[in-house]
Amino acid sequence: MRIFKNKTDLTTYVDVLKSEKKTLGFVPTMGALHQGHASLILEGLKENDFVAVSIFVNPTQFDNQEDLVKYPRTLDCDVELLKTISDEKIIVYAPTVSDIYGSNVTSTSFSYDGLEHEMEGKFRDGHFDGVGTIVKRLFEIVRPNKAYFGEKDFQQLMIIKKLVEKYEIPVTVVGCKIHRTEDGLAMSSRNTRLKLDYREAAPFIYETLKSVKQKFSKKSAYKVTDWVTKQFAKHELLELEYFIIAEVKTLKTVKRKSNKKTYRAFIAVYADDIRLIDNIALN
Ligand code: PAJ
Repeated sequence: MRIFKNKTDLTTYVDVLKSEKKTLGFVPTMGALHQGHASLILEGLKENDFVAVSIFVNPTQFDNQEDLVKYPRTLDCDVELLKTISDEKIIVYAPTVSDIYGSNVTSTSFSYDGLEHEMEGKFRDGHFDGVGTIVKRLFEIVRPNKAYFGEKDFQQLMIIKKLVEKYEIPVTVVGCKIHRTEDGLAMSSRNTRLKLDYREAAPFIYETLKSVKQKFSKKSAYKVTDWVTKQFAKHELLELEYFIIAEVKTLKTVKRKSNKKTYRAFIAVYADDIRLIDNIALN
């Protein structure tokens, strides 16, 4: 497997692939890879000759320094997992902070036509400026034909689509389904940090979302939201940060349902000090 630690070497290699007319898929990650990431890579391998996977814990997208420090860094394990998927067709880019940012570890400010003011944008100050900065930079370095993002971070996926449109970046953004463990919990690098009782409680999040989907076919968004709030108020371990039913195009909270619009429910929950997010398509 080819592993690049700096952009100069990667750029040279990508130039060779381009000269040979090979297509390149791209899966940006922060490492601590799991089957959720693997599902994106497999999708990329179906549609491209090679897939580049970046592994980089991006400091500018963390609003909480403790979360940045505690974020798992497991490059050797990540490479082992990638080898089981494909040794030949996967290229790893695992840069240092200075390879990406030089000595100026700051983010650029982006406008995503209001998408950045909802949900994660409200609760994680500067988060989407950090995401936009790193993804735009990675697109410039990797120059992929297609890039794969999970619906697990649905708002991020929408924001990347907006970024690509606004900056006319020549890449096709592909959204991929949420990969879950058998008990329904959305896979996340943070799950490994959950203490046993919190890990056992966490599938309650997706159970609730499935009930939301059923209830939303008959009840108003307001009533369903109220029901969710009460479910979590009764829960001994999980603390609700937000629950929102939003229209997918604008990500604005729904006030009155319309048959012509598509909705999704979004949730963020604290399990101890670990923040988990999930979402579900409603219609
Ligand atoms: P990270 O959390 O490592 O996720 C990398 C990609 O994997 C994202 O597109 C995310 O949505 C997807 N993903 C994570 N868990 C998933 C699951 N259970 N099912 C499907 N897809 C899943 O998201 C980031 O990193 C960063 O913000 C990044 C885009 C790399 C920029 O730093």
